[in-house]
Amino acid sequence: MPPKPPISAENIARQLDICAQIAEENAAAHRAPLAFVDTYGCQQNEADSERIRGYLRAMGYAFTDAEKDADVIVINTCAVRAHAEDRVLGNVGALVHTKAKKPSQIICLCGCMMGEDVVVEKVRASYRHVDIVFDTHALWRFPELLQRVLHRRGRVFDTPGGDGAIAEGIPLVRQNALKSWVSVMYGCNNFCSYCIVPYVRGRERSRAPEDILDEVKALLANGCKEVNLLGQNVNSYGKDLQNGWNFPRLLREICALPGDFLVRFMTSHPKDASEELFDAMAASPKIAHHLHLPFQCGNDRVLKAMNRGYTAAQYLEKVAALRARIPDIVLTSDVIVGFPGETTEEFEDTLKLIEAVRFDALFTFIYSPRPGTPAATWPDVLSPEEKQANFQRLVDAQNQISKEIHEGYVGKTFRCLVDGKGQDKRNNLTARTNSGRLVHLTGDEALIGTYQDLTITAATTWALFGEVAKAGEAG
Ligand code: SAH
Ligand code: SF4
Ligand code: F3S
Repeated sequence: MPPKPPISAENIARQLDICAQIAEENAAAHRAPLAFVDTYGCQQNEADSERIRGYLRAMGYAFTDAEKDADVIVINTCAVRAHAEDRVLGNVGALVHTKAKKPSQIICLCGCMMGEDVVVEKVRASYRHVDIVFDTHALWRFPELLQRVLHRRGRVFDTPGGDGAIAEGIPLVRQNALKSWVSVMYGCNNFCSYCIVPYVRGRERSRAPEDILDEVKALLANGCKEVNLLGQNVNSYGKDLQNGWNFPRLLREICALPGDFLVRFMTSHPKDASEELFDAMAASPKIAHHLHLPFQCGNDRVLKAMNRGYTAAQYLEKVAALRARIPDIVLTSDVIVGFPGETTEEFEDTLKLIEAVRFDALFTFIYSPRPGTPAATWPDVLSPEEKQANFQRLVDAQNQISKEIHEGYVGKTFRCLVDGKGQDKRNNLTARTNSGRLVHLTGDEALIGTYQDLTITAATTWALFGEVAKAGEAG
């Protein structure tokens, strides 16, 4: 099938016209309206929220963090686990009181949860203070939806589902000028049996390489130092374009752009992490020595039930192939504990895998049934208490590994990007190593946005502490 045509430039221009009309109406009424955008979930949602803010700014809205002051509240939701959904619904429920004090307030719900029919129906019936509901496929027409509600109140629901076409040219308000998100593709084709993402975000669609390269060039021209390429499985980039582009080629072309910057990317599915990818990573000093490579589980029967498409041995082979090319590669991963049918004996293979790889950090999750996914109907063999006990064993084992790896950094010097202000006076700045490890340091705020050689002076399980190295210590 040829790729789906993108949303036309005329359609986006019409949305921008609507933004201008709303901005004029606000100015004519001497209103200085405020918006609050709250984002749950992954970087993909963060990137979508930057577009929502871009539209809002074009409509004349400034931003606030106080829900009570906002004229428009947008909640960009995540559906990946029940806990994330419960938090969203709890917070949306509480907005009844905010809106009672400010009846003109417009409340919008968007993001992955709005791709679930049951959630949309629940909001329709039981969250009547919510004015606008749209899914990720309808994001490009947010201005039109907001205008409808501004002009004649009423509620608007726009949840087409399916595989929304790609929209280029939506304005953005970037959260961070130094480190920017760049979506390279949307959706997922993998249908891991536990995961809701393919249902709510549709099939894989890759952006045209020219559009991505233009966006990266513009970012670099504006002082961006870290380009974070985003997709649910960036390793499938280009498959749907049928024009010879793949992810390693995209990486090579981005790295060929002039400038001193780093490229990061996530997420990589192990089944598609190729030697060509590892070669591209090894070939350019601009690609971070970090790979987030979720393995989910170390047991082959469970991996098969998860529909992951690799065995534990194949995963370890990929890690070895990568380490052969980039010995100092930092690996991080995602793990699910308590998948339906997983026994404690099978779980122990997960412990073996983390001991074999020794990840710098892990994101660990207890399995959460997602209605509509195959695994949601499969029976458990372990009780919640047994799952919790296994989860704790995993966390403890990983904490020990992270601590040991971090302690190994002490005394070494790394080139780091000083990227922001810290939380306390003593460690007033934060920085990241090339491989993405967080370093706290004390220094002049003028260092923010510069690369510095930092010598690591202390380490905990979670973080490193450093100081600017004396000349000649880098390496
Ligand atoms: N596309 C990415 C992951 C996106 S979701 C990838 O495949 O790597 C982020 C993580 O959430 C997953 O890696 C998985 O570990 C976890 N996750 C997804 N669905 C889950 C569920 N139903 N219960 C618990 N964790 C889940
Ligand atoms: Fe979900 Fe699997 Fe797709 Fe990742 S690859 S988004 S875990 S279905
Ligand atoms: Fe959540 Fe959607 Fe991301 S479900 S993890 S916000 S793709």
